[in-house]
Amino acid sequence: MELSVRFAVPADAASLGEFMTRNFLAAYAHTASPENVRRAIADNYAEAAQQRQLSDQKNLGLIAVYGEDWAGHALMTLAGAAPEPVVLRPAIELARFYVDTRFHGCGVAQELMARVKQVALQRGAASLWLSVAQSSQQAIRFYQKEGFRISGELIYMFGDDPKDDWLMICDLSA
Ligand SMILES: CC(C)(COP(=O)(O)OP(=O)(O)OC[C@H]1O[C@@H](n2cnc3c(N)ncnc32)[C@H](O)[C@@H]1OP(=O)(O)O)[C@@H](O)C(=O)NCCC(=O)NCCS
Repeated sequence: MELSVRFAVPADAASLGEFMTRNFLAAYAHTASPENVRRAIADNYAEAAQQRQLSDQKNLGLIAVYGEDWAGHALMTLAGAAPEPVVLRPAIELARFYVDTRFHGCGVAQELMARVKQVALQRGAASLWLSVAQSSQQAIRFYQKEGFRISGELIYMFGDDPKDDWLMICDLSA
């Protein structure tokens, strides 16, 4: 069976809400209070938030599908403001990059990232940037293998709880 990657559409909101809630909880529920986890899901990941994000022209979502299963999801923001250290412009934000826990370590992340880079290049980007939790060693390691470099620090508001993130940048010409 082959992995395929397609663009997300607003009709994916309910399934994507379920996918992201489940995988966000698996990855980050232990790093914040239950109230802040609840707020983060409602604000960013649940069905209504997905509907809003997927209907916004500046966002571009990708879904990796393996057979009947959703294996991964990426969200790119095309027209947002990039942090100052992002000097290679135009730059696209990789706002979300998740592989279902069942597919970690299987190469899905690499295939989905290859598609993200392809789409970013097609859109004329010189670089991709992202914000990743400093505690998320697995994700940082993956991004480093994919050519992203730590280029500064950012604060991520997890509900009302400020968390230390790394700013990571990938030069798409490299
Ligand atoms: C980040 C993510 C997409 C990477 O996908 P993946 O399939 O795990 O990627 P890889 O198999 O290449 O693993 C990445 C590295 O982390 C290592 N790793 C695996 N589990 C780990 C753990 N618990 N702690 C630290 N490193 C770990 C792997 O060994 C690998 O490094 P190596 O190639 O040097 O051995 C995936 O882990 C994920 O979806 N995580 C949850 C969501 C998330 O945090 N996304 C990023 C938000 S910015």
